[in-house]
Amino acid sequence: MPVTVHPFAIGFGAEIRGLELSDPVFDGDSFEIWRKAWETHRVLVLHDQFFTDRQHIAFSEWFGPLEEFPDPKDWAADDLPNILRVSNVDRRTDTIKDVDEPGHKSFTLGTSDWHTDSSYLKVPCKGSLLYSREVPASGGDTMFANMEAAYAALPDKRKADIAHLEVVHDFHWTRRRFGLPPRSPEVQAKTPAVTHPLVWTLPTGAKALLIGSHACTIVGMEEGVARKLLDELTEWATQPQFTYRHSWRVGDLVMWDNRCTMHRAMPYELANVRRVLQRTTVVGDGPVA
Ligand code: SIN
Repeated sequence: MPVTVHPFAIGFGAEIRGLELSDPVFDGDSFEIWRKAWETHRVLVLHDQFFTDRQHIAFSEWFGPLEEFPDPKDWAADDLPNILRVSNVDRRTDTIKDVDEPGHKSFTLGTSDWHTDSSYLKVPCKGSLLYSREVPASGGDTMFANMEAAYAALPDKRKADIAHLEVVHDFHWTRRRFGLPPRSPEVQAKTPAVTHPLVWTLPTGAKALLIGSHACTIVGMEEGVARKLLDELTEWATQPQFTYRHSWRVGDLVMWDNRCTMHRAMPYELANVRRVLQRTTVVGDGPVA
């Protein structure tokens, strides 16, 4: 079956058909179609994919080196630091986690708010490949916002006003905002606040807004004014014309370009219904341009 790309009507995102990711011999031509589709459409959906964890890592690595996640209890298996479990189910006990357990609460609050993955790092990641093993019958969709289209549609005056702004991204501020206790000083020291341009120039030359839940303030701007601007831009970028909502089926692989999209998980019955997704994340090429 040939590999074909089917763009979504909303103007970004596409479904790829004809790629069998469990095929151990994945050839360079298929990869090139996949890579180009990712560069063009920003969010890609592949249905009915059934592969092993190691295959998940292997085809993700075609896009570049993968991030290692810090906490072994969040890995897909004890020896797989490259796969993050995005789930309300504890891997070791196979039971639904306590919604008030601080680590779990921090993760669910964090992923349910609009965010750009690892924007609190000097080099945010390039993209992620999120795979569904168990999904709720209702709820738990993932939404994506096209930050390139949102930037392009801004009035020229606003583009000029924000062109040179630098935004502070701080993971610890995000925790404080959610009312979560601070992490240990050693952990905090590993992820100090960073600044990025508000407008990210992509390798293609296109520009995208870089905001999300870790964006706490703007350099040189009074706190309240900065907050208002960041909130206005978030509201602008998450209007229906810039967003795609993915309703999961078991066996879906959804891949996004983290440099020009934000995303969030939608609510579901966290305390009663199982949702087991797993994610690999491709390391970024360098600091935000
Ligand atoms: C994520 O933010 O990486 C996961 C989003 C989701 O759980 O839908």
